[in-house]
Amino acid sequence: MGGAVKQLVVLSEFRSARQLNKSNHDHKRTRHVLRPSGSISPSTNDGFNFSPAYLRRELTFMLAVPFMPTPQQLGQASEASDLLVIQSAVRKVLSKSKAAGILRLAFHDAGTFDLYDNSGGMNGSIVYELDRPENAGLSKSVKILDKAKSEIDGIQHVSWADLISVAGAEAVALCGGPTIPIKLGRLDAREPDPQGKLPEESLDASGLKKCFLRKGFSTKELVALSGAHTLGGKGFGNPNVFDNAYFKILLEKPWASSAGMSNMIGLPTDRALVEDDECSRWISIYAVDEARFFNDFKYAYAKLVDLGVSWKNI
Ligand code: HEM
Repeated sequence: MGGAVKQLVVLSEFRSARQLNKSNHDHKRTRHVLRPSGSISPSTNDGFNFSPAYLRRELTFMLAVPFMPTPQQLGQASEASDLLVIQSAVRKVLSKSKAAGILRLAFHDAGTFDLYDNSGGMNGSIVYELDRPENAGLSKSVKILDKAKSEIDGIQHVSWADLISVAGAEAVALCGGPTIPIKLGRLDAREPDPQGKLPEESLDASGLKKCFLRKGFSTKELVALSGAHTLGGKGFGNPNVFDNAYFKILLEKPWASSAGMSNMIGLPTDRALVEDDECSRWISIYAVDEARFFNDFKYAYAKLVDLGVSWKNI
């Protein structure tokens, strides 16, 4: 566990501090010399210390030094083990049918980010914003993650922001999408983010591009992130499978046909993307190259959950 590793860091820092302190005060120190009987007695002369216990300790330390992890490596190991604890608790409460709601929750928390006034972002504020109309239905997802949070908090504190970021990535992976590495250390906000920062359903392509640009996203990233709508019940293939069906179906424009339920497919914003030349080029690329979509989605999601974040150690 992270705790044990943290203890190691403290011990190794304590040891280095002691070594330094020792050499700084060398002239004052009381030395221990080996008497003929093998017992140790204090001495203030400047002779060397060759007691077997001392030599054994120093030799062990010298042999171990090349294999000792640096504080940075220990920090990484600690973060990796903290991540495992979060992932394992999330996996217990997550199922394929809950994955779409969890991924949407991640977008609605992080997607409030505004580059211009540096507000919003992935900060767990969604827990204060559940009564907003755009967040309808998301309290279910928060409740699901609350169970995981209680379990994790019993071992180590986890912020909502870290938990939701990891849970969104787990949702994608569980449904067959890419594995997305998530950094830890986000701090939670204590109040809701400003209103009206999420994209509205009625935006056209140019409105969507502007909205995403204010969050630091390119058109390519807007299109890749919109591919999240492959999950859920908007008609883009299997609702529990994360694949590139979203792009294939967008190119077919089924809403243009009057047959059956085809006009129920997609949101106005999904339909708007395919009418825009620049967006349409990316849609065509992702429709034939799922690996490219997975890779671009992976980077765009990792960027999304880092937006506007206050990090614990900075
Ligand atoms: C481009 C602008 C976007 C708009 C206007 C938008 C809007 C919406 C709306 C209105 C729904 C339907 C909610 C419902 O069924 O009640 C939805 C579903 C969903 N959205 Fe978005 N969204 C956008 C982008 C994103 C992004 C970037 C992500 C994630 C990275 C995302 C993830 C999802 C998911 C997974 C669902 C399905 C939820 C479910 O079925 O439970 N959306 N979105």
